[in-house]
Amino acid sequence: MTSQDEKKRNVAEAAVAFVDESMILGVGTGSTVNFFLAALNAHKIRPLGAVSSSSASSALLREARIEEIDLNSAGDLEVYIDGADEATRSGALIKGGGGALTREKIVAAASKRFICMVDDSKIVRTLGRFPLPIEVIPMARSYVARKLVALGGQPVWREDMITDNGNQILDVHNLAIVDPVTLESTIGAIAGVVSVGLFARRGADVLLVGSASGVETIRL
Ligand code: A5P
Repeated sequence: MTSQDEKKRNVAEAAVAFVDESMILGVGTGSTVNFFLAALNAHKIRPLGAVSSSSASSALLREARIEEIDLNSAGDLEVYIDGADEATRSGALIKGGGGALTREKIVAAASKRFICMVDDSKIVRTLGRFPLPIEVIPMARSYVARKLVALGGQPVWREDMITDNGNQILDVHNLAIVDPVTLESTIGAIAGVVSVGLFARRGADVLLVGSASGVETIRL
């Protein structure tokens, strides 16, 4: 296991403390979430059910024998647990490296608390080193890309990916995101954009940061 995986495993273990068996849990997507589901299993904690943010996480929930519940029947959730690709210490995030940003954003929005698990290599002062994923309706891809160039970014089409919603992803390079809340709204308002991988208007409520010295808990 790499040292980054070790840190992910430690933050995933720390996230278990935010879960109890009476909950319907929101579950994100990615390798840190995989560690989290393994940790839940190791602690023999089986929540009442879970709302999934991707077909990949739905498969993992089936393996863990945790019932998947449709968000339309679940109401608001107590807790959403997910990783991120980049985070500031004030809880603004870039997500969508795995292409699941739209459903992740919906489940995060419907949750009272967002517990975000990252390793310290993902903490930055200014978001944008990690290319910003944007899910677009396929026919709008070039139009949206031109608008993103006008905003100073360099969009690259993730050609090997169709999202769970049947859409495409543009990864925007070279954006220095000094005002993530405003940029999230600006890009979200472009016709054809389904969602922006900036989670700033609704960022993390608790950031768990794994480092060589342990897990830091930042409550926001
Ligand atoms: C999925 O679309 C992403 O938002 C993930 O949450 C993010 O890529 C973190 O992934 P890892 O936990 O694999 O680093």
